[in-house]
Amino acid sequence: MPEDEDSYPAESGRRRFVKGVVGASALGATGITGATGIKYATTSSGSGGGATQYFGIENIAGPAPRGMPQIPIEIDSDGYLKGVWPEVKTKTVDNEEVKIAETQLGGITYSSEWFQYCGVQTYAGIAPDADQDNFFRVSESASTSYDWMSDLSAGDKLKVSDFDDYESWGNDIGKDGLGKPAMGRWRSEDLPPQETAPIQILRSTRIEDLAKESDHPEWVKASTEKGFIAWLNKCTHFCCVPGFKSSAQSAKFGGANDVYCPCHQSVYDPFNPVKLQFTSLPRPEDSGESGGSSGSSGGESSA
Ligand code: FES
Repeated sequence: MPEDEDSYPAESGRRRFVKGVVGASALGATGITGATGIKYATTSSGSGGGATQYFGIENIAGPAPRGMPQIPIEIDSDGYLKGVWPEVKTKTVDNEEVKIAETQLGGITYSSEWFQYCGVQTYAGIAPDADQDNFFRVSESASTSYDWMSDLSAGDKLKVSDFDDYESWGNDIGKDGLGKPAMGRWRSEDLPPQETAPIQILRSTRIEDLAKESDHPEWVKASTEKGFIAWLNKCTHFCCVPGFKSSAQSAKFGGANDVYCPCHQSVYDPFNPVKLQFTSLPRPEDSGESGGSSGSSGGESSA
């Protein structure tokens, strides 16, 4: 897949990172090097952005430049669904202690940089050591996307049993039985609405099948469980919130059985994780003062 630049206005500090930084993938492979040292030294909060490899759900139509990043799933002993957050480490670079969130998972360096686009890089919950519990929770507007979610309240933790009818679920959009979706939020507790990270979870027999046979078996095994897959639900075009079977007009644009963005008709295939690359944006140097009001399209938006 081609490397794509994000198309939103750049953070004021972006240029210096783009010039001086090696890719995040190199971090995992080589550890701190002279070049990565420049990166860490340049931002005291740890993740400076730059060329980043990730797994995402594939963009298959429309103007979006690339797929949306996956969030690896874990299920706790009570059946609640959580998103894996990379391991937070402290490293000393040039006599300065910096925190980073990255871990080797499923054959790739999984890092918080996967989510650093569309203003999400300014959200306090995306800071490596943010005090968040990682549960996927019901988003405020979830019931406007899916009737079944009107039985739940905003902030409820999503659990496996909410998806018991996933093999047959359907609404009036596309085919029934492809999987049951939910709209949620992640790492956004006690934060203002403009710092709410939208996520989507889908449970599908197709994801179960993927675990048996996939182009990326190691990653699929590490990132999905019991047929669940999740992703940061921010369209990579202009940051709207797409949905799987959440818009009746998706049928007109060939997206009724996929993830469709109502803003400019991009379509993503949730059943086919692909390895991608993009230039992640730097987080604010002092994440404690972040406000989600960067020049890029921060905050949750939808048509
Ligand atoms: S297609 Fe433009 S924001 Fe999604």
